[in-house]
Amino acid sequence: MKHTLALFTALLLAPLALAQQPATITVRADKPGAPVPRSLHGIFFEEVNHAGDGGLYAELIQNRSFDATLPVEGCTLHDGKCKAAPGPSYSNGRTNNWSVPWKFASPWPSWSLEKPEGAAVEMSIETEKPLHPNNTTYLRLNVPTLPQGPAVRLLNEGYWGISIRDGETYDVSFFARQGAPTGARVRVGVVSADGAVLAQKDVALDGDDWKQYAGSLTASGSDAKAKFFLQPLSAGSLDLDFVSLFPRKTFKNRPNGLRTDLAQFLADLKPAFLRFPGGCVVEGATMENRVQWKKSIGPTHERASYWSVWGYRVTNGLGHHEFLQLCEDLGADAMWVVNVGLSCEYRNGDYWPDERVPELIQDTLDGIEYALGSADSKWGRMRAEAGHPETFPLKYIEIGAENYGPLYQARYRQFAAAIKKAYPQLTLINCEKADGTEVVDEHYYSTPHFFFAGHRLYDNEPRTNVPRRYLGEFAVFQRVGTGNLTAALAESAFMLGLERNGDLVTMCSYAPLFFNANDIKWPVNMIGFDSARSFARTSYYGQRMLASNLPDVNVACETTSPTLELPHPDGEIGLGTWKSHAEFKDVKLTATDGKVLFTSNASRELTGFKPGAGTWRIADGALRQDGDGDLRYLSQANVPTALQSDFTLSLKARKLTGEGFYISLDHGTQGRNHWIFGGWEPPTQLEVLGIKMRHVPSTIETGKWYDIRIELAGKRLRCFLDDKLVHDVQASDPLPSLYAVAGMKNESGELIVKVVNAADKPQQTRINIKGTPTLSTPATLLSMSHPDRTAENSLTEPTKIAPKQSAVEVGTDFTHTFPANSINVLRVKMKGQ
Ligand code: AHR
Repeated sequence: MKHTLALFTALLLAPLALAQQPATITVRADKPGAPVPRSLHGIFFEEVNHAGDGGLYAELIQNRSFDATLPVEGCTLHDGKCKAAPGPSYSNGRTNNWSVPWKFASPWPSWSLEKPEGAAVEMSIETEKPLHPNNTTYLRLNVPTLPQGPAVRLLNEGYWGISIRDGETYDVSFFARQGAPTGARVRVGVVSADGAVLAQKDVALDGDDWKQYAGSLTASGSDAKAKFFLQPLSAGSLDLDFVSLFPRKTFKNRPNGLRTDLAQFLADLKPAFLRFPGGCVVEGATMENRVQWKKSIGPTHERASYWSVWGYRVTNGLGHHEFLQLCEDLGADAMWVVNVGLSCEYRNGDYWPDERVPELIQDTLDGIEYALGSADSKWGRMRAEAGHPETFPLKYIEIGAENYGPLYQARYRQFAAAIKKAYPQLTLINCEKADGTEVVDEHYYSTPHFFFAGHRLYDNEPRTNVPRRYLGEFAVFQRVGTGNLTAALAESAFMLGLERNGDLVTMCSYAPLFFNANDIKWPVNMIGFDSARSFARTSYYGQRMLASNLPDVNVACETTSPTLELPHPDGEIGLGTWKSHAEFKDVKLTATDGKVLFTSNASRELTGFKPGAGTWRIADGALRQDGDGDLRYLSQANVPTALQSDFTLSLKARKLTGEGFYISLDHGTQGRNHWIFGGWEPPTQLEVLGIKMRHVPSTIETGKWYDIRIELAGKRLRCFLDDKLVHDVQASDPLPSLYAVAGMKNESGELIVKVVNAADKPQQTRINIKGTPTLSTPATLLSMSHPDRTAENSLTEPTKIAPKQSAVEVGTDFTHTFPANSINVLRVKMKGQ
């Protein structure tokens, strides 16, 4: 009752509060601040969610080399799992036992056979005398007798459908080897989902060794769900490999090129740089599984594929050369991320010994030479032979992707010394802060609250003897569904803070970039598509608005505004293990008046809990997790508003094997805090993540029951381990509802004011511009908004929310009402400019 009344009062007062306290923005155009670097906004690319294969890379055939089921490099198959060879992890020396379930609908995923009933047609995946040593598998199709009636057709469904457009031309090619030297014939074409042939062509085969056959098809109809077919017109056995179908139209008409609509999204961002190829794929699930650039150059049928840590095999058709070419086509600097002999510590974490590091350093130098070496150099010649005698715009090397710790730092130093010696002009990026680091890469995936608060993240950071910052991966990825306007508002508020701190933060890139709507591996991403359609989320438009309106230098800008009210989501208690087996019992959530809000009942099957990853069960009166893996998670989400007021959470936890156990609490707008006891990095510490991060020394013994108590009182959050206080933080200050920065563009003599109104009501704002000659009016306003902050673009409504331009009257002291949930860029010309 008390809560209901409080909520009712708050709802009544909220609009009044906004009306009573008008927001203000005060700009001092004569008070310059930090310069705004041209390099600020870039792009992060990684092969996740079919960003490349089945996305940006325009190939239409999925599993073109019949290799989709090849095991992860460095792993073998056991009991339906693909398992890494056990070995110590680089981060803590423990064995990770990494594995991934290994199950496919057929031995030839994405391919199927259509044949008359009873026709004897055989298919098998073969490896003997392959097309190329890098391309070890192929399909054998045997039609002993050509059946009467309906045709035998080998079909490929593409990436959840092949998009064929009426009148457009498609280049088709395949390698074939006949079982006998007799001239066989096949028909290749595309057929719509309802069976209409949209294009076809007959091909006569000759010889009994591998040979490539190529031609083109022009479509006489459209379908987003078309299939490719190959129909034998003669009986016999046929080996097939590298079956390819490519739209003739690609971005900038490059052969082996990129899907035009997706590449255009990137071009419209006018990115300062493009980071490739990742992300975790750089490290690999195992060292053998890392992205290897030398396997991604040369003729496409000679490139070895690799398994992306995001769950599918990748052709490498979009390889080192193509990434560099894309950078050039976008007018962006290239940022190449390289492996330092350490695989992903969240997967297998295996590593190469120091003796093998020179091999990797040489590999990196060779890859740089491919981009920057003259056409006479060994690797520069390969670039020239691939059609690009001029050098590529490679500017940054990131040494490692998400690697940390002493071994990583030792590797960093070795790589940095060798690269700088050969290429002093390159800027080097370190994954963590260390002496002598030029640029450090920081990653933030969090809640809207974190990003709004992050508007001030760098304001008070030291400026001397510190590396420049590159926010290499950031995104609101919680509490925004699959991404909505709230995410864009929070990220834009955050990016305004980066712009204001441009002397320290010189680069940023949202991550991940793309998602195929049919296979989403990461919760929130920027640009979505299916076989035929694409759209950009408001996060994209927010970034584009800010990136394409960069001033040269910040000027002083102050704001006042009412407090931001963010919706209170349901609270959640989470229990977990981290590379361990553990047990939990007596979980109890109590209000300050002593009322028990939730209690675990271990006599019944996981009552009240929702198991996430892992093997959770009731054992001996406790909740036990004894499956293998990193984070295994169990949540209790039905604690509605309980966690928004004061409470005590108490429980007992015991580690059975491995590293540590994990407790998390989601409590209203403060977002999620989590405590890792005896795990993560360094392994004998307690880490608390949330708005604040803390490392507290703590050793967790195996087999011992610990009492854990977490108390929220007002703004104070405390954690006790066996009654000892281990963590004590204050919740952060209320968030403002209006965020702004201002800067001058010297050449055009413009003042650029960027404003995020995060309130879900229009906000009347008094804008005072001081220290400037007279302003020209009207000014140009670019604004993106929607009354519902949970609204978002989609494949069916791709530009429901997009920036719109208008003219607004301005002066040195004027009032403007920013729409609810809006991102705004105001460009004001000085008179006479
Ligand atoms: O962007 C998705 C993943 O997040 C990246 O692969 C990795 O670097 C980070 O953990």
